[in-house]
This record gives sequence, C-alpha cells and structure tokens, in this order.
Amino acid sequence: MPRRVSHISGTDNFNVVFVGAGNIMFGSDEGPWNHSFRFEHKLGPRLKVVALIDPAVDRATSVLAKKCETFVRSAYENTRVFRTLDDFVKNVSKKDTPRAFVIGSPPMFRGTNQSGRDIELQIMKAFPGVALFVEKPVATGPSSEIEEVFKIAKTISDSGTVCSVGYMLRYLKAVQMMKQIIDDNHLTVMTTIARYACAYEAIAKPDWWTKSKSAGPIIEQGTHFCDLSRYFGGEVDISSVVAHSLEWNENAGHLSKLSIDETAIAPEDRIPRVTSATWKYESGAVGNFIHVVALQGHDYSCELEVYADGYQLKLVNPYVQPVLYVRKPGNDHEQVHRFPDDDPFFSEISVWIDNIEDIEEDPETSQILCTYEDACRSYQLTWAIREASERSRDSRLNSS
Ligand SMILES: NC(=O)c1ccc[n+]([C@@H]2O[C@H](COP(=O)([O-])OP(=O)(O)OC[C@H]3O[C@@H](n4cnc5c(N)ncnc54)[C@H](O)[C@@H]3O)[C@@H](O)[C@H]2O)c1
Repeated sequence: MPRRVSHISGTDNFNVVFVGAGNIMFGSDEGPWNHSFRFEHKLGPRLKVVALIDPAVDRATSVLAKKCETFVRSAYENTRVFRTLDDFVKNVSKKDTPRAFVIGSPPMFRGTNQSGRDIELQIMKAFPGVALFVEKPVATGPSSEIEEVFKIAKTISDSGTVCSVGYMLRYLKAVQMMKQIIDDNHLTVMTTIARYACAYEAIAKPDWWTKSKSAGPIIEQGTHFCDLSRYFGGEVDISSVVAHSLEWNENAGHLSKLSIDETAIAPEDRIPRVTSATWKYESGAVGNFIHVVALQGHDYSCELEVYADGYQLKLVNPYVQPVLYVRKPGNDHEQVHRFPDDDPFFSEISVWIDNIEDIEEDPETSQILCTYEDACRSYQLTWAIREASERSRDSRLNSS
C-alpha cells in the first residue's frame, strides 16, 4: 500500500525530453492522443521540454513553432531539437538535465540492446535514475527478439527506474470500477471477450498497413485490448493461443475506402482484415479476442466483456465515451454507468509524474498501472496471436 502524503504542487521546473515529434506527442486527427497537451495541463508553467529528439528535424521544428504561438510558449521556447539521443547527450547543459523522458518514437527503434534500437538502455546509461514513459508496443522486431525485450524489462526494474508504458485504457474510471467490483466481491474471472473494430478509413499511415513496419494490427493496435484482457484474466498460457484470420486477398477481405495506396505495399506485407483468437489463462479462464479492420468513418467500435460467477461486466466504447454495463446476481437487468470527460491519457501521465515527484494524492489511483515487464507480456501475447493466425492461414493454403 503506498504511503499517504498530502499533495504539494511543486514550483520548480520539470525538465522533460520528448523522443519523437509525431502524432502521439503532438496530436492528429486520428484520435484523442496528444501527450504534450496532457503535460501542459498537468505541469502548467513548470513544464520545460528541454529537448525534442527526432531525425525528422523539420517536423520537430514546425510543431515547436506552433506551440510557441500559443499560451504554452514558456514550455517550448527554449526547446532544442536533436536528430539523435547522442547529439543531445553531447550538448546538454547542467540546467537542462532532464528529470524524465517520454519515448514516442516508432517501436521498431526501441526495445532491444542493438545499436540504434536501444534507446531505453542508452537513456539509462547517460542519465541514471531518470524516469521513463514508453509508448506501446514496447517493440516491433521479429518474434525471435521477444526474450531481448524481457531483458530490457529486467534492466529497467533492477535499476529502480520509474517507468510506465502507455496502455492508457487501464486508467479508465470504468476499468477501475470493473476491477473494484471483482475485488469487492472476491470474484474469479471465467472469461474475457474482447472486440476491437477500428475505423480503417481514418488510418492514413502507410506503415500501419505494412507488416514489416508496424508488425501488423494486432501487435500495433489490438495490443490495447490484449493488454486489457490480461489486466482482468491474468497471465496467458502462451502455448494455448489459437487464431484465424481473414486476409486482404480473400474475397471477404476487400476494403473499398482505404486512405492509402495498398498496391504500393508488397502482397506478403499487407495486413489481415480480421484476426480472431482464443487462449487459456494460467488460471484456467478462457480469453477471446477479435480485431476487425472493417469500419469506415472515424470512431472505433470496441467492447470488452468480463464474466465471473453471477456477473457480466461489459465495457463499451472506451475510446470515445466509455459506458459500463454491470449485471449482478439477483437482478437480470444491467446497471449502466457512464463516465463523461474521463481522460485516460491525462491519468496515465498524471500518475507517472506524481510517482516521479513522490506525490500520492489518492493511494487508490496513484499506482503506475503498466510496468515495462507487464507490457512485454502483452507484446508476447500479440505476437503469439499473429503467429497462430499465420500458421492456420498457411495450413489452409497448403491443404487447398
Ligand atoms: N496509446 C495510444 O493510443 C497511441 C496512439 C498513437 C500512437 N501510439 C504509439 O506511439 C508511437 C509513435 O506513434 P506516432 O503515431 O506518434 O507515430 P508518427 O509516425 O506520427 O511519429 C513518430 C515520429 O518519430 C520519429 N522518429 C523516427 N525514428 C526515430 C528515432 N530513432 N528517434 C526519435 N524519433 C524518431 C519520426 O520521424 C516521427 O516524427 C508508436 O509506438 C505508437 O504505437 C500510441
């Protein structure tokens, strides 16, 4: 149980380095993510982004210029742009020593101990004790590198680094209410049933549609719901994972409103339209997950159901307007809970900063909810789903 201390807002500057000047850091039309906005709200005038590291220097310079035109100018007016972490390490002044790094570069550049893909280790070496926030997924290298990612996890935890991974849905008030109901009633989860249907028309990044770049939609995106399933179901027996897919070149897999030119992507590199998986949790419970690339428009359609003896907890629309339907023993009608204005992106940043500053406003909500090691396990599950679906696709092709 964390220690209870009263909240004292700091007055000193909070130096932070952003790695990556892309959508997750500065927002886009694709969704509500935008870390810089949450940092500004959490820290106000204390926020000092001392460096923005991105090889796309023009992009970095242009997002900073936009910030400097607004009332949050003081956080960015002295931000220096560097192409690499090395350049920053060589040039950082004592005054700009960072307290924390936010890593929002593409996962292909992190999560290993190989040069150029080892930013976590490089940061810990140059700035021991500095806190890390790492975006999901922790990596996207080949599955043969999964053990390497777990080694990074061990180095992070052995060093005592305050580290949080961006599985923000864990921080939703609805998700915490589900946890509370399970704890209060001493429930044992019997099954998790998750559906993630994205609005593909809104996804305009060619990398996302290219397996060799993003590792495919389960590892890149479905990972949020695989992680949430694990949050309720516990550890997965990875050897039990089975899956099927609907591929891009099957009749039912045709999509009419792609925002990218898929013909520019090699056929073997194109992503499946549907992936459906089941598995056993170590507890004996059964997990079930389906990822669908079928909807147009903008909003995703996502639901997670968790069942236990007498109970159904159904989380609907967690990205847009979360609603929790609860059915309990003694009444067949569901209670409906709505959570207007809940911002899990703010909560995950807020909790991480409070942990760095050792401020615990509310012990119940002040825990970092996804460690690097936990995130590695979600990564491992998503790879197992992808590989199981590819195995069943290949065996179907071989037998036809
Ligand atoms: N939690 C969420 O809901 C959520 C939402 C969006 C993105 N993400 C995650 O955030 C990460 C980044 O995604 P994005 O949408 O911002 O991508 P993006 O393509 O918009 O931006 C990535 C940026 O990183 C830069 N970059 C490339 N190599 C780099 C390196 N070695 N060091 C530093 N910067 C480098 C690129 O030039 C680019 O500006 C991914 O892991 C993605 O899955 C999470």
